[in-house]
Amino acid sequence: MYRSKIAGIGHYVPERKVPNKELEKIMDTSDEWIVERTGINERRFGKRHEENTTILGAKAARKAIADAGIDASDIDFIVFATLSPDYFFPGCGVLLQRELGITSTEIGALDVRNQCSGFIYGLSVADQFIKTGHYKNILLVGAEMHSMGLDFTTRGRNVSVIFGDGAGAVVLQPASDVEPSEILGTYLHADGTHAEELAFISPGSHGGVHGQEVDFGFDDDMWKSIFVTQKMLDDGMLYPHMNGQLVFKTAVQKFPAVIMEALEKAGKSPEDLKILIPHQANLRISQFVQRRLGLKDEQVYSNIQKYGNTTAASIPIALSEAYQEGRIKRGDLVCLAAFGSGFTWGSALLNW
Ligand code: ACO
Repeated sequence: MYRSKIAGIGHYVPERKVPNKELEKIMDTSDEWIVERTGINERRFGKRHEENTTILGAKAARKAIADAGIDASDIDFIVFATLSPDYFFPGCGVLLQRELGITSTEIGALDVRNQCSGFIYGLSVADQFIKTGHYKNILLVGAEMHSMGLDFTTRGRNVSVIFGDGAGAVVLQPASDVEPSEILGTYLHADGTHAEELAFISPGSHGGVHGQEVDFGFDDDMWKSIFVTQKMLDDGMLYPHMNGQLVFKTAVQKFPAVIMEALEKAGKSPEDLKILIPHQANLRISQFVQRRLGLKDEQVYSNIQKYGNTTAASIPIALSEAYQEGRIKRGDLVCLAAFGSGFTWGSALLNW
C-alpha cells in the first residue's frame, strides 16, 4: 500500500474585482450588510465569452502541474469538482483534458458533484487511487464560474452576494519515504434529509416529486420535455436556493465534528494544527469553528474577504495562497474541512 501526497498546487482567480459597492447598484443590499453577515468585501467575476469553469480550472491546473515539476502529459487521471459546470453533460473533466491537450493518452476523467465539499470528496477519491498504486499523477481541480448563473436582482440577494469565481488545483503523487509530506486521512459524510434547502433544483429531471409544493408548470403530455418549462423561466426558478439559517446552524455543528474526527483518528488535537483551511463559506462560520475548537487566529486561514465563497474552489485556492504566503511548510499538520449542499461534509488531515 502506498501513501499519497500533494506534490503540486496552484490557483487562479479572475482579474475583475467586484466590491460590495458594485452590488449595491443592482440590488437592494449594502456593503455593511454583506460585511457584517458574511465577512465578504469583494469577489472576482470571470470574463464572459473568454472564461468559463473549465478555463479557470485549466489556468489553476497548469500552475499545479508546473509546481509538481511534471508535464501535462504525465497526468494519468483527472478529477474535477464543480457545481457550475460548463455543460449539464459531459462534465468538466473531459473538457479540461482537452483544454490541457492530453487527449492522446486517453486517461480517465471523473466529475465530482459534491458542491462545497467537492474538493474534499475529490481528494479522497484521488487518495484511494494513489494508495492502491493505480495512478501516479492525479490532477484534482476545484473550479467555479458562479457569476454565469446567479440572480442579481433583489430577489436573489441572500445567495448572489456570497458567491465568487475562481479555481484551485493540486497534483497528487505517491509519497516518498524521505519526505514528510503525506495525506493522513480523509473523512466523508452526507445527510440528504435537507437536500432542497441548499440547491439548484431546475433545470432537472426531478419532475416535482420530492414533495415540493411548487407549480413548475409541468405539461402532462409525456412527449414534451419538463426539464425546463416556460413557468420556470417566468418565475425565476432557474437559480440556486438557500435556507441560510439552516445551513449556518448545521455547518457550525458539522465543521467542528468532522475536524475533530480527523484529528482524533490521527491521535492529534487542535493545538497540534499548524493551520486549518476551512471551506470559505462565511467568515462567521469559520470564526464560530475557531472558537469551538479553541484555535488561535494564526491557525485558521481566511480569504473569503477577497474572493467570496468559491464553493469547490475555495479550499484549493486558500491552501495555495497559504503555501505561497509561507504560512505552511513541508511537514506541517494541515486540516482541510468543508460543509455544504447535500448536506455533505468532510475533512482531510495531511502533513504538508
Ligand atoms: N442584503 C441586504 N439584506 C438582505 C440580503 C442582502 N444581500 N440578503 C438577505 N437580506 C435580508 C433578508 O431579506 C431579511 O430581511 P427581513 O428581515 O426584512 O425579512 C434579513 O436580511 C435577514 O435575512 P436572513 O436570511 O435571516 O439573514 P441571516 O442573518 O441568516 O444572513 C446569510 C443570511 C448571510 C445567508 C446567513 O444565513 C448565512 O451565512 N448562512 C450560511 C449560509 C452559507 O454560509 N452559505 C454559504 C453557502 S454554503 C456553500 O458553500 C454552498
